Amino acid sequence: MSEERGRGFTTRAIHGAVPPPIEQIPASVPIYQTSTFRFDTSHDYAETISFRKPGYTYTRGYGNPTLLAFERVMSDLEGTQSAFSFASGMAAMHTVFTTLAATGDRIATSNELYGGAFSLFTKVMPRYGIEVTFVDPHDLDAVAGALPGAAFFYVETIANPNVTVADLEAIGALCRASGVPGVVDNTFASPALCNPSTHGFEFVLHSATKYVGGHHDLIGGVVCCSQEGMGRVRDTVLETGGTMAPFEAWLCMRGLMTLEIRMQRHSSNAMQLARFLEGHPKVERVHYPGLPSHPDHGVARRELGGGMFGGMMAVEVAGGVEGGMRFCDALEVGWVATSLGGVHTLVGHAASTTHRQLDPEARRRAGIADGLVRVSVGLENVEDLIEDFARALEKA
Ligand SMILES: Cc1ncc(COP(=O)(O)O)c(C=O)c1O
Repeated sequence: MSEERGRGFTTRAIHGAVPPPIEQIPASVPIYQTSTFRFDTSHDYAETISFRKPGYTYTRGYGNPTLLAFERVMSDLEGTQSAFSFASGMAAMHTVFTTLAATGDRIATSNELYGGAFSLFTKVMPRYGIEVTFVDPHDLDAVAGALPGAAFFYVETIANPNVTVADLEAIGALCRASGVPGVVDNTFASPALCNPSTHGFEFVLHSATKYVGGHHDLIGGVVCCSQEGMGRVRDTVLETGGTMAPFEAWLCMRGLMTLEIRMQRHSSNAMQLARFLEGHPKVERVHYPGLPSHPDHGVARRELGGGMFGGMMAVEVAGGVEGGMRFCDALEVGWVATSLGGVHTLVGHAASTTHRQLDPEARRRAGIADGLVRVSVGLENVEDLIEDFARALEKA
């Protein structure tokens, strides 16, 4: 470039935007909306991309300051050394599974699972030559029997659709005794209610789409684990992708700031709604771990903190499949929608949606009543929810 000629318009437009250095700490972590980071020298680039020198290389898998800030707060809240963020809960699950198990291995898992996890085990893992054994997580002898030789054991803290609560203390002890890593999906509980790492679980997964985000406005996932475990997970994801984007990490951090307060309100709304529904003549059964009638109430009292039982419940509405669907359709404050864990109350009729592949007999065996409706209790005023549910039950 000659001295008399300044750089052209577009060059200045491209190179002129540099973050001004600031001395203060902003209240909100900046969103580093960048895919890549510049190096002073090729040597620095080579050292950093090999993780021999700290720094940032590429947002997919190699890290980004906004992702790191989210991962740090998440690992602190789960009580683990480290964490790694993903584009979705399913991406987190797939990465952990394929990090811990390879062709010829066998995975042992609870049979009470989110449908996506069930499909990953039954449709995708066999394609990789990985065998999967399913056991009842409440039958500790069955869990102990499935562990020897397994690549890992997988369980959900609170499981779909009947919100059963796994005894993580007992299962964690069995895993440790067998030398089998414990992997847990802590999505329904959130770190505000339960920290499975205290029971020896080595990988704690979340669909951050749910309570972590909390507002039904993002898709994300996160795995909390040791530093060594994070390095192994990262080695997989560097080649497979599926990492979180900076804006989603920012939304998750914003969500986490109010997680405990939201869980208090989710739990108190759910408890009041569950008590109302339990006495209603159009309701055959309410599944909510906060109710003494729930089979895992004792485990839930021990395992879930702060006297909270979360916002998830399942309600068996009288009138079979039609009764359950009519009830959902009649709700106004509660929305018919997939997902859970956000500010809005969401409902879904299991037999016609998440469990539609099962015939009535198979559904009964899986404990899914024809009129079963899963409810993610939101943060609305509880009087409005009770009034809405009462009105909809009259029409069911
Ligand atoms: C318990 C549980 N785990 C994992 C997932 C998958 O998460 P995502 O939808 O973020 O991929 C879901 C989704 O509903 C879920 O309910």
